[in-house]
Amino acid sequence: MQNSSNDILVASGIVKTFPGAIALNKVDFSLRRGEVHALLGENGAGKSTLIKCITGAYRRDAGLLKLDGEEIDPRDTLDAQKLGIGTVYQEVNLLGNLSVAENLFLGRQPRRFGLIQAREMNKRAHALLAQYSIDINVSAALESYSVAIQQVVAIAPCRRSFRQGADPR
Ligand SMILES: Nc1ncnc2c1ncn2[C@@H]1O[C@H](COP(=O)(O)OP(=O)(O)OP(=O)(O)O)[C@@H](O)[C@H]1O
Ligand SMILES: [Mg+2]
Repeated sequence: MQNSSNDILVASGIVKTFPGAIALNKVDFSLRRGEVHALLGENGAGKSTLIKCITGAYRRDAGLLKLDGEEIDPRDTLDAQKLGIGTVYQEVNLLGNLSVAENLFLGRQPRRFGLIQAREMNKRAHALLAQYSIDINVSAALESYSVAIQQVVAIAPCRRSFRQGADPR
């Protein structure tokens, strides 16, 4: 597989077997900057398994994963998320009654002396959404916004810069 600088993620020779089934047999797949990819295949082709190997939900048996030219080996989904690789499922998996900012920071709100810093959280949430040209009141309930906005709220926390900056550990 060619490795050009336009490649964000390159998976090569990915192998994953289950008892009695070879789900992935040396699969090559790359994601290029500025492109949207669709992964198509018949039932049982291995789409879900490939995504799970890339997002850390499964450990692959063999093959290489490279992100921006560097080899990665996500141990689990949290590990992959810290690298900016996450899965957003079709059904938005968020809490509509919480604010937009609270959803963006679920489980990792900025804290000081054990207290959640709401102003800081709202400020960071607003800045994050600005990167998607979205300018909304982040302290309003998520459910008051369109599904399109909700999808962005689901995707935005996967950004690597956000993950690393906001991670309390
Ligand atoms: N947990 C598992 N245990 C055993 N076999 C599995 C498991 N998960 C997937 N497989 C097998 O691996 C192969 C690939 O399955 P996978 O679910 O990745 O396909 P898919 O392309 O996502 O299919 P679909 O279109 O039905 O979602 C299939 O043969 C499937 O039966
Ligand atoms: Mg599937």
